[in-house]
Amino acid sequence: MPLTSKHLLGLDGMSRDDMKLILDTAVSFREVLERPIKKVPPLQGKTVANMFFENSTRTRLSFELAERRLSADVLGFQATGSSVSKGETLKDTARNIEAMKVDMVVMRHSAAGAPHYLVRVIDANVINAGDGGHEHPTQALLDMYTIREKLGRLEGLHVCIVGDIAHSRVARSNIYGLRTMGARVSVCGPATMIPRDIGKLGVDVYHHIDDVLPTVDALNVLRIQMERDAGRLFPTLREYHNFYGVTRQRLEKAGRAITILHPGPINRDVEISADVADSEHSVILQQVLNGVAVRMAVLYLLSSRN
Ligand code: CP
Repeated sequence: MPLTSKHLLGLDGMSRDDMKLILDTAVSFREVLERPIKKVPPLQGKTVANMFFENSTRTRLSFELAERRLSADVLGFQATGSSVSKGETLKDTARNIEAMKVDMVVMRHSAAGAPHYLVRVIDANVINAGDGGHEHPTQALLDMYTIREKLGRLEGLHVCIVGDIAHSRVARSNIYGLRTMGARVSVCGPATMIPRDIGKLGVDVYHHIDDVLPTVDALNVLRIQMERDAGRLFPTLREYHNFYGVTRQRLEKAGRAITILHPGPINRDVEISADVADSEHSVILQQVLNGVAVRMAVLYLLSSRN
């Protein structure tokens, strides 16, 4: 069964069947990553361009590795040091890269909607690797994969996302994805970090983390985004940690084993204490590994449609 769409721009509106197809396909690729030779041929002869207009460690390396594991030829582009600094537009940059016979484009951009614009000006498959505060679909898919791997299912689980929901593309994609797969989703944070109308997305809202923890199966902890001036949303980092920091003491008080996720990069002892990040409940590094398998699945399934 092919994916319904030629592109992966977001999880908003994606069907449960398509999400399940990606997660199930990723299981096979996860197995490939355990082999002594971690390479398979499905994208042999295909060329993938990774266009990163914003900083990234995990997503950029994970896509690159996924492409190489699938035997694709990989073209790396970073805005820094490119002709973007001479004023070249996104449209011209993308069309010039595509003119080199590129089949697929993975793009991260600080502007929400940039990949939606891209599909109107190029023919290649486009994968959104994070667009502003809008969506980060492959992050949410790897989060869902990791929860399902650890807890055996998504349906009926209670997943809480804690932190700056208002500015988080990870939160939005997780909400769309998890709800479609049948999970109950809550968000938690100070009022300054929760959009007023978030309830329309079908989530419960908590402002006190200790109120939600006793019923939570998995907690997705978001990074305090200093580079986006998050500091003006709460008085001090110490106060944020005191009220919302995920600490061992808090988890013990909740009285249940809660799976801890974080998309990274983490601010140790701000949104999550260092010992929790490294604890047996944390699946942060499993998320990173599973991200390669999930991105292999997305690349493979989109390429198979062509
Ligand atoms: N999770 C995530 O998107 O990390 P990077 O910004 O390092 O890609």
